[in-house]
Amino acid sequence: MIRLFRSIEGEKKDDIVQVAEFIIDDERKKGHTRLADRLSSILESNINTHQSYKGEMQNIFGSDLNIPKENRNNIPLATAISRENLRHEMVLPAEIELKIQRIEKEFVARERLALYGLKPRRRILFHGGPGCGKSMSAERIAWNIGLPFLKVRFEAIISSYLGESASNLKKLFEAIKNFPCVLLLDEFDFIAKSRDSKHDVGEMHRIVNILLNVLEDYEGPGIIVATTNLEGSIDKALFRRFDDIIEITKPGKEEILRILKSTLSAIDTQPNLAWKDLSNKMLGFSAALIVKIAIDAAKISVIQGKGIVNEDNILQSLSENQLYYKS
Ligand SMILES: Nc1ncnc2c1ncn2[C@@H]1O[C@H](COP(=O)(O)OP(=O)(O)O)[C@@H](O)[C@H]1O
Ligand SMILES: [Mg+2]
Repeated sequence: MIRLFRSIEGEKKDDIVQVAEFIIDDERKKGHTRLADRLSSILESNINTHQSYKGEMQNIFGSDLNIPKENRNNIPLATAISRENLRHEMVLPAEIELKIQRIEKEFVARERLALYGLKPRRRILFHGGPGCGKSMSAERIAWNIGLPFLKVRFEAIISSYLGESASNLKKLFEAIKNFPCVLLLDEFDFIAKSRDSKHDVGEMHRIVNILLNVLEDYEGPGIIVATTNLEGSIDKALFRRFDDIIEITKPGKEEILRILKSTLSAIDTQPNLAWKDLSNKMLGFSAALIVKIAIDAAKISVIQGKGIVNEDNILQSLSENQLYYKS
């Protein structure tokens, strides 16, 4: 019996796994508790290796998307991030916030728009420097409109089998054709840039063209979000495929202050802290760096045994982190 169980592979919903669970229950009812426990742990470890995105999708969204895999190593072409793991509390300059809200509002109003033959924005490009919230904005959209979130795995798309990268991309878009989700193509210019590499120039060229086509043809019920750091290096043809192109800029003074306060909201801060002066010193920093400065300041204060963040803590953290700041 144990040997039989060791050979079982699959996912929780597979027939073989359900039969196995039935046998375990049966043994338990017969009072064979130790055997039942043993079989249960073997089964658990066998199906655990397969548990991943799919289990999450089913639990969180009650939906069953079979994320296609590449053929060589059976790596899924996208990863799902469950709702509770989506980053969504962010601070953006007002005009950027409004642009992102417009995407969300159009999605929510999609049926009303359709009455007039109109479609919501569903191909979005975020660009801007690192650490300002491009990827986070994509997650936040999914969180706000309540859609499953999938992140494309380019390393799986760019298969080592010649000719398969393009079909991987097509396979993935075919799979989400009728599946409402936010699909993130993070740092997607990676794929466009790779066309410069000496290997497989023809292949990379084909992939870029396929990407252009699948983006253009996307009529699905979700939203495709692409992000990129470097506007200059993207193929101009790519830009034309998007319904909305939004630059996520660095936080201004007001946003810096809000990011500091919200990051430190779980810890006490010295009364009458010179928030404004401190924020001004961080002008030009990315949101990610400001979050880090605030967290480090909190740690300094806790380690000192006070647990009340004061100005010195923030200044110390600022000067330590400034080393990494390049304008
Ligand atoms: N606008 C923002 N508001 C609050 N925190 C932010 C913001 N942008 C970035 N962060 C912080 O920086 C981290 C990295 O952000 P991310 O979206 O991955 O940056 P990007 O994709 O632009 O490089 C986030 O996990 C978050 O802690
Ligand atoms: Mg990013």
